[in-house]
Amino acid sequence: MTNRTFTMIKPDGVENGHIGAILEKITASGFRIVAMKLTQMTKADAETFYAVHNERPFFGELVEFMTRGPIVAAVLEKENAVADFRTLIGATNPADAAEGTIRALYATSMGENAVHGSDSDENAAIESAFHFAGREMF
Ligand code: TYD
Repeated sequence: MTNRTFTMIKPDGVENGHIGAILEKITASGFRIVAMKLTQMTKADAETFYAVHNERPFFGELVEFMTRGPIVAAVLEKENAVADFRTLIGATNPADAAEGTIRALYATSMGENAVHGSDSDENAAIESAFHFAGREMF
């Protein structure tokens, strides 16, 4: 089934100059970019986007981190997009991420782990709509 997932290159990935390398890896892995922009999340945006984590001890740091600079937001299309993209990015903690995954290559820590990938088709649709209008997705 061809479907879609949502990704962000997080502020650390942008700051460290990895936009090009990460996009190259994504497209070389068979994902088609159907929406993309450089943007910056406000505190309210990040609190809403990560609302599922709002009781967790790392929530404040996560919001602080995600708002400290620009991100690249994108919607990606591929067969089995959500699961295949989670495989491509690797585990949340880069210390546990498989060799060659985007987080193994470019993340610096658990909190600053270079990329986001949706964890379900439902969340992919919600997260894509959070960042893009329908006419911005091709
Ligand atoms: P989560 O959705 O669990 O991970 P993933 O991004 O792999 O889907 O967590 C969201 C982000 O919150 C995660 O990318 C980094 C941050 N985070 C921490 O800083 N500490 C933690 O213990 C966890 C679980 C997440």
